[in-house]
Amino acid sequence: MTSDARGPDGGHVLVVGNNTVDTVYRVPGAMGPDTKGQAESLAVYAGGQAANVAYALALLGRPVQYVGAFGDDDGSALSRRSLAEAGIGLTGCVVVPRCPVHHATVVVDTLTGSRSIVMFKDNRLRLDPSVVTPDLLDGAAALYLDNHEERASVAAATLARERGIPVIADLETLSALTLPILAQVDTLVAPRDVLRELTGESDPEQLVRAVQLLGPHTVVATAGVDGAFGAETTGGVIHVPSWPCELVDSTGAGDAFHAGYLAAFLDGAEFPARLLFGALLASVKCGVGGPRLTPQSARSVSPLAAAEERA
Ligand SMILES: Nc1ncnc2c1ncn2[C@@H]1O[C@H](COP(=O)(O)OP(=O)(O)O)[C@@H](O)[C@H]1O
Ligand SMILES: [Mg+2]
Repeated sequence: MTSDARGPDGGHVLVVGNNTVDTVYRVPGAMGPDTKGQAESLAVYAGGQAANVAYALALLGRPVQYVGAFGDDDGSALSRRSLAEAGIGLTGCVVVPRCPVHHATVVVDTLTGSRSIVMFKDNRLRLDPSVVTPDLLDGAAALYLDNHEERASVAAATLARERGIPVIADLETLSALTLPILAQVDTLVAPRDVLRELTGESDPEQLVRAVQLLGPHTVVATAGVDGAFGAETTGGVIHVPSWPCELVDSTGAGDAFHAGYLAAFLDGAEFPARLLFGALLASVKCGVGGPRLTPQSARSVSPLAAAEERA
């Protein structure tokens, strides 16, 4: 793939990780074993953690390069088109012949808001570390990893670190490569439950400090409607509540938070303001259906300064 979003002055964010197609059924009442449900609605969205972050950053006006793997079916075309149409560069992406897109089927119980998800990612969609070539980082302002492509993440983070490019990452599951990855990450923004599992700590202060010992100098734990807390190396742990919103769909809230945090970081905002902007973008995401912010919802986001004033 040849599209390139890097301008002559660089400053792009390189994003590495998942892209998916999400098929979402909204069904009143839980689906038990051996039951048939009649859905109220069916919608198909382009999603995937890293792709969602890339898309949100592009909506915020940032130049973005995405590296991930596509199959060659209709879903893959939808996923790829969604990124290309947002102006995201796809140089370095891999297309696997006769391979389906990484797919998620989501069943939302409209009575409780709970959801069940079943996913399939063909093993051929796993990124080889060699796909992250050094030139993709030329002029980059930051590297963002969703950490679903672990071997490629270690390779990309190592390259970025060597060049002094900040590495910002998510972490949704733990594995044998978690510690080598964290050793190369500057800022970790991850769900509180995963960080609890990683450290065995529940107390916010102890949890954040325990993660910092593993590598990242800045750590943020997101906690759904309870908001987020975190700290830099210096300074205490601070908490930002979630912004009130009319909840439509919390899918992708974390990814929107990450994009807001990263955009504010790139704008030179202080740590508390980055958390605020992350939480603001996440709440806006919760107000729209599907895994991503929409162009219209992103336009409704007040700039960072206004967000700070409202807080
Ligand atoms: N119901 C909600 N209303 C408003 N903001 C929310 C809501 N749920 C989540 N958020 C925001 O999204 C952020 C990330 O959500 P979380 O569920 O922790 O991540 P993930 O989507 O990765 O599981 C939270 O820190 C919070 O700011
Ligand atoms: Mg998440």
